[in-house]
Amino acid sequence: MVRASIAIVADLTLSSKNPSSLRVDALVVGTCKTSDGLAVVADQFPADVVHEIETLAPQLGLTGAPDEVRKLPAGPGVKAAMLVLTGLGERDADGTFGEETLRRAAGAAVRELAGTQSVAVALPTATEGDLAAVAEGALLGAYTFTAHRTGDDAAKQTPAASIEIVTSYARSSRAKAAIERAQVLATAVHGARDLINTPPNVLFPAAFADAAKAAVKDLGAKGVKVSVLDEKQLTAGNYGGLVGVGRGSARPPRLVKVAYAPAKAAKRVALIGKGITFDTGGISIKPAAGMHAMTSDMSGAAAVLHTVVAAARLGLPVAVTGYLCLAENMPGGDATRPGDVLTMRSGKTVEVTNTDAEGRLVMADGLAAGVEDGHDVLLDIATLTGAQVVALGHRVSGLMGDDDVVAAVLAAAQSSGEQFWPMPMPEELKAGLKSNVADMVNSAADRAGGMLFAATFLKEFVGGTPWAHLDIAGPAFNEKAPFGYTPLGGTGVGVRTMLSYLEAQAA
Ligand code: BES
Ligand code: MN
Ligand code: ZN
Repeated sequence: MVRASIAIVADLTLSSKNPSSLRVDALVVGTCKTSDGLAVVADQFPADVVHEIETLAPQLGLTGAPDEVRKLPAGPGVKAAMLVLTGLGERDADGTFGEETLRRAAGAAVRELAGTQSVAVALPTATEGDLAAVAEGALLGAYTFTAHRTGDDAAKQTPAASIEIVTSYARSSRAKAAIERAQVLATAVHGARDLINTPPNVLFPAAFADAAKAAVKDLGAKGVKVSVLDEKQLTAGNYGGLVGVGRGSARPPRLVKVAYAPAKAAKRVALIGKGITFDTGGISIKPAAGMHAMTSDMSGAAAVLHTVVAAARLGLPVAVTGYLCLAENMPGGDATRPGDVLTMRSGKTVEVTNTDAEGRLVMADGLAAGVEDGHDVLLDIATLTGAQVVALGHRVSGLMGDDDVVAAVLAAAQSSGEQFWPMPMPEELKAGLKSNVADMVNSAADRAGGMLFAATFLKEFVGGTPWAHLDIAGPAFNEKAPFGYTPLGGTGVGVRTMLSYLEAQAA
């Protein structure tokens, strides 16, 4: 049984009260960098408290930089028990702060407030978009994963339970819609993070399929239908990629379809997610150092599942089918060998030159299923290549595919605050697909351009359907240090971009 972390998503309210009058455990205000030091960014705040912080800033070691969070006793005239300063960096040329800056500052502060009951966030909300960003950041920061901790340890790490956002838009109906959306969004991101953070002995393909059923249970009339193909059905259906990757594991593969089909759908979108619940590399085994992080190799499938759930919760007028390509890549006695040839769902054959290039094999079958079911567009999302991490690092995901789909995904990423960067698919890489025995190989002899080659391989399975491929290998799992609203471990990257994309398709 996959256990979710204790709290689901914090309770969120809006207030137009003077922040210093709020009796909360922690009051969050902004700081920023100016030409002569630090400035406190807070409306209606006692001038003497502001003055004291600004003059003491150098001695306190405060600069107003992003991710600088400091807890202080609240001064006289402030009803909150504690004041929390969160850095916003420098103001933009027009004197405001960008939405992502606000999102991160709110998240960084709330992330530091685990174990606190009530939090008020008084960051500048010049527009309703700013308010949405603050709400999203605060909720995204209010996350911990304590399902596998016992005793006091778990209680101490419970995220802030109630968050009040101070804004002049407290009575606007658009603001209310925005915070409802923020709650749906954060619930989805938290749901994806929970799955990623669930250890691989607990989350195997069949357990993931059960988790998908559980995730749609409470949707009621907004119904999402989950159907599961087990290993027998996958074999009978010629899903050679999923079966080939799964055969080295004692825990067999699954293909899970998660379908949301509202009555009036503007478009039919397929989301295909890589769900390798653990990637040892198979017979082409990975080195021991760092292998544990391959518990996150199902991040694409986690993002897809919870994006579909969020689309249903919001009642978007667009049909979305998620395909979760679930397998465990293990080097068991019946594992696929280098040199084996697989016949894929599409009918094409693949010579497996490297069993560690397993993601593209399961994704090829997921893409083929999406094509067969007749969608208008395919988005696939996968922790596909180490080359993505080398090229773009841990915070920027790669984006490839058809120009117009890539442009639409990029616009969605920008509006949601996730970082994606378009990468090319050079014609000459197709030569690397050539196999001496089958239609193609899964891994080119030349490692150069590994992310682009993987996309070139996937393109063989999309037919003529418009398509984009999201490689989230680096950003999916944070092993370094938390920042902004991003915790350690699963980040849930992709959910926000895909949800914004679906909203744009619905419009
Ligand atoms: N799951 C990995 C890619 C990965 C690497 C994700 C690092 C997150 C962090 C994938 O299955 C893989 O092993 N790819 C190989 C492909 C190669 C054998 C062609 C890689 O990138 O090294
Ligand atoms: Mn691999
Ligand atoms: Zn993998």
